[in-house]
Amino acid sequence: MAIMSDERYESGKYAGYVNNINAGGHPGYMVKTFGCQMNESDSEKLAGWLEAMGYRPAVTEEDCSFIIFNTCCVRESAEQRLFGHLGEMKKYKTANKDLVLAVCGCMMQQEGVAEKIRRSYPYADIIFGANSMHKLPRLLHEVLTQRRRAVDLEDDPAQGIAEGMPAVRSSGISAYVPIMHGCDNFCTYCIVPYVRGREKSRDPKDILDEMRGLAGEGIKEITLLGQNVNSYDGGISFAGLLRKAGGIDGIERVRFMTSHPKDIGRDILEAIHDTDAVCNHLHLPLQSGSDRILGLMNRNYSRDSYFAILDMAREIMPGIGLSTDIIVGFPGETEEDFQDTMDALERVRFDFAFTFIYSRRKGTPAAEMPGEVPDGIKHDRFDRMLGVQNRITLERNKASIGTVETVLVEGTSRTDPSMMTGRTGSNKIVNFRTGGTKAGGFAEILITDARTWHLEGELYRWK
Ligand code: 5AD
Ligand code: SF4
Repeated sequence: MAIMSDERYESGKYAGYVNNINAGGHPGYMVKTFGCQMNESDSEKLAGWLEAMGYRPAVTEEDCSFIIFNTCCVRESAEQRLFGHLGEMKKYKTANKDLVLAVCGCMMQQEGVAEKIRRSYPYADIIFGANSMHKLPRLLHEVLTQRRRAVDLEDDPAQGIAEGMPAVRSSGISAYVPIMHGCDNFCTYCIVPYVRGREKSRDPKDILDEMRGLAGEGIKEITLLGQNVNSYDGGISFAGLLRKAGGIDGIERVRFMTSHPKDIGRDILEAIHDTDAVCNHLHLPLQSGSDRILGLMNRNYSRDSYFAILDMAREIMPGIGLSTDIIVGFPGETEEDFQDTMDALERVRFDFAFTFIYSRRKGTPAAEMPGEVPDGIKHDRFDRMLGVQNRITLERNKASIGTVETVLVEGTSRTDPSMMTGRTGSNKIVNFRTGGTKAGGFAEILITDARTWHLEGELYRWK
């Protein structure tokens, strides 16, 4: 069920009002994003609303009449950082009485946080949750007309997915397209199901129409997003959706994240293999290599069943890029459990691993589990794990020296403007020297050197 055509209509009604307010002042806005790709995607939509209402992107806070913080609460450190940022906003609010300050996203749905912001930051004008994004125009209108704070933390499980929001894309080459929202998995360490709500799949027609629209704007690469894309159920399966997404004219690369090992099967791997546009890359979070810890995490797979999936993936696509997420220091993790994780890294030899130190999230089952791992031990294990994975990443990168890789060119390298940068289908960054600039095009690059974080190469030919 899609909602909010009414809200869309209303944003047009409010736009005139906001335009008037902005006419004499600073029509600038900033969206400050914390967290995952889903948050980045949400921020593109917030920017879409703001531009539809007459705001324009600003470079400095002084030029803003609207600043919004889109927050994340997956790990605890984010909270302290947000409060620091909010504290800093006071000076801008004092200097510019028209500045509207908003805070939104997952963290607002977390117990106690919105309350703390209400109490400690009286100058935060709008507070809303991850499921109320489509209401921004109305909330903003309320603040501007009634000069009082607007709060919307609605969390109605029956609420449908908001469709039709405008978006300002941060790249002209790659874009994120959410295919589902929420999560039903309740991994015991994770706050996401509590703040983002139950799993809801978008209608495939809405997804494919959005992709066609993006192709029309020149986008070449789309990443399909969801907390667990393998359990997508929009009337067709995820494998079916991948095949359809791969058939859209102009979209030359389709990526997806995140997959859950308990829900991925041969049908999805074959869809990746059979569909040219779908990149041969799988991000499959392992979280731990110990069966005992996987049980405590409520992950619903064993290390052997995980290995079996990757063996099947490599059998179907020998060159497939593999990445993962690992958590160290989960409650009760012993040195033996940790060694099981290290052993899994050596066995799989991932191209890349995102490694996290366990962060206790109030309200999750793991927060009440015995056996808290002391900070010193967590950090020591984290460092050892990083050492091993960095070595493996470098070894795997070095293995591609001498090969020719097809790269989607993203632009000039941030670290060295004389270099261009792009990514391989397996998601490795490649920097290469060239006289011409051709962002958005494909190039074949001869790989000449390899580092831990990127490959280096020479232009072999434009494709
Ligand atoms: N502590 C540490 N890492 C976490 N993740 C999720 N919740 C936590 C937590 N409480 C990690 C998982 C997940 C990734 C997005 O964030 O590895 O896959
Ligand atoms: Fe969190 Fe697990 Fe859902 Fe991922 S699958 S969002 S880790 S509960």
